[in-house]
Amino acid sequence: MTAIMIMGLQWGDEGKGRIIDRLAGKADTVVRFNGGPNAGHTIPRPGMIKRAVHQLPSGALHDHILNVLGRGMVIDVTKLAQEMIELNMCNERLAIDPCAHTILPHHKDVDRLMEAQRSSKIGTTATGNGPAYADKASRSGLRLCDVMAKAGGLVDRSEISIAVEARAVARVIGFRDLDMCFTDVPSLLSEQMADNKRIIFECAHGFELDLDHGQYPYVTSSSCGIGGVYSGAGFDPRRIGAVIGVLKPYSTRVGAGPMPNEYEPSIAAKIREMGGEYGTTTGRPRRIGALDLRAIARACDINGVDYLALTHFDIAEEVKYVELTGRTGETRMVHHDALVVVIAEETGVPVKYITTGPKLGDMSEVGNSESIWEMH
Ligand code: IMP
Ligand code: MG
Repeated sequence: MTAIMIMGLQWGDEGKGRIIDRLAGKADTVVRFNGGPNAGHTIPRPGMIKRAVHQLPSGALHDHILNVLGRGMVIDVTKLAQEMIELNMCNERLAIDPCAHTILPHHKDVDRLMEAQRSSKIGTTATGNGPAYADKASRSGLRLCDVMAKAGGLVDRSEISIAVEARAVARVIGFRDLDMCFTDVPSLLSEQMADNKRIIFECAHGFELDLDHGQYPYVTSSSCGIGGVYSGAGFDPRRIGAVIGVLKPYSTRVGAGPMPNEYEPSIAAKIREMGGEYGTTTGRPRRIGALDLRAIARACDINGVDYLALTHFDIAEEVKYVELTGRTGETRMVHHDALVVVIAEETGVPVKYITTGPKLGDMSEVGNSESIWEMH
């Protein structure tokens, strides 16, 4: 197979970054297709300082990877330029769809003001993500290519404030020559498939935050599953050979909204410290709950998940017994030795990868260790 997809099965922060970093070692291309700077994918490597990416794909630490940003993203170019500088990324390694929408400075203010006015808070990341997607849906958004056009030419009086913003944004684009990375991503991916390149689709956030399938309105503003590959990258999801769903042996959630198995504060605090569960983008302490395999089985069904990747397994070993809700809704304690088998039984999907904390090692494969690229 030459195309695979990695997605989160909980509320984000499942450890997708590390799995992608590892699989990218033998891949050619990693594609982001949804979300923007609200995402935070941590890439821990044993013996190295922990890095995190927000808009760049999680293959960014590999020099051989082509990093692709699809048109389904909303992009904060100032932050993107910063990330490029931090990771020493050159334009040749980046392809950006010019039809991706732009997060303008005022989107961040609107995000904060709307959140302040809500009686029932969502707990957004205040990165301007939601307002940028709202403008896109109401057809008043600016794509990256529109910003370039508006910044360069004469504009209507009514658009003066947009032009000022556009020029500010374009200064950064010019500085990094970001328009040199503009590529029609659907065509690029077709060519790559024809050349048998290995492509990883990297889904941001977790399926419980999906705009349509999550617990509205406590969701993000994009598609956090297989549907995002079509809309956000212009790629036929049927060409994806394997969908890998990532989960950890407990749940975490940043921001508000229902969390059926949430732990009481003292248990939550213990697991939060063990797992270092603080937001990658916002630094907020994450809410912690028991593993909900009923919700995970639903996410697997909807997205056609083929394999599971179980992260933070060292935490399961440390607590010895993992509390989980099964497919029928009953809650029980499962010894960590039996966890992999129980997860596979309850979800109907085999566990292929297990990861432990960076200090203990990294990723191992369960059973048949045939490379995902060689399978099928
Ligand atoms: P927004 O995406 O900033 O609008 O935030 C909407 C909700 O999604 C909030 O509860 C955020 O905490 C949550 N959220 C957005 N992106 C992520 C992520 O990458 N990881 C975890 N939670 C996220
Ligand atoms: Mg995260």
